Amino acid sequence: MVRIFSKQDEWSVNGKTLNFKVKLGNKIAFKKRIYGPKGPLYRTVMSIRSMNKIRISTDKNELDRELIFNFLHNEARWCKRIPRNIVEKSIKNSLCFGAFIGTQQVGFARMVTDYATFGNLVDVFVIEEFRGNGISRVILNAVNDHPELQGLRRITLATSDKQELYAKFGFKELARPEIFMERFEPSVYS
Ligand SMILES: CC(C)(COP(=O)(O)OP(=O)(O)OC[C@H]1O[C@@H](n2cnc3c(N)ncnc32)[C@H](O)[C@@H]1OP(=O)(O)O)[C@@H](O)C(=O)NCCC(=O)NCCS
Repeated sequence: MVRIFSKQDEWSVNGKTLNFKVKLGNKIAFKKRIYGPKGPLYRTVMSIRSMNKIRISTDKNELDRELIFNFLHNEARWCKRIPRNIVEKSIKNSLCFGAFIGTQQVGFARMVTDYATFGNLVDVFVIEEFRGNGISRVILNAVNDHPELQGLRRITLATSDKQELYAKFGFKELARPEIFMERFEPSVYS
């Protein structure tokens, strides 16, 4: 159900365009009302880039634990049904990047690292209503620029279909896949 927030949640009025926030389930999206010649047109837009309001924080106190747990437990293809205590422990022991618009968390990424030689980037996501606005790019730039992640010998990640996205941030296919091994328990949370 779409609920228009109260008047004070309108975030800008620009000429004949009114931008406002709506609540979709328990998530916030942005809509635009444009006054056309035949009356108002409603369009879902997320001109977040032009709002220049995406903020990255590595402060764990700011993270929306509920949002992260909900996405990982219910939606993420790679760790569905992950228990809450495991999510909490993973956050505690990682460098976490939260993407925010105002105080609303819209994205996340987690780097498992020793801060010296190696990192593994996991749990990258942007919540659905905010996708396609460059938020993952802002997150990945923050990861690349983080002062404590400079000079690592190797950073790995696993992706089934987002290779193009990560390639823009320097990730390449394994040069020598034959030297990598893994112990993998895909059904550990089921
Ligand atoms: C993948 C995901 C994080 C991208 O976030 P996003 O904020 O919508 O992406 P952006 O708007 O920053 O787009 C960044 C670039 O990636 C590309 N891209 C976005 N989604 C993509 C997809 N599903 N497949 C391939 N490329 C994609 C965009 O075209 C864009 O390219 P550009 O820089 O040339 O314009 C988001 O779709 C998501 O959370 N998906 C579900 C969880 C997931 O699959 N996470 C990745 C696990 S490896």
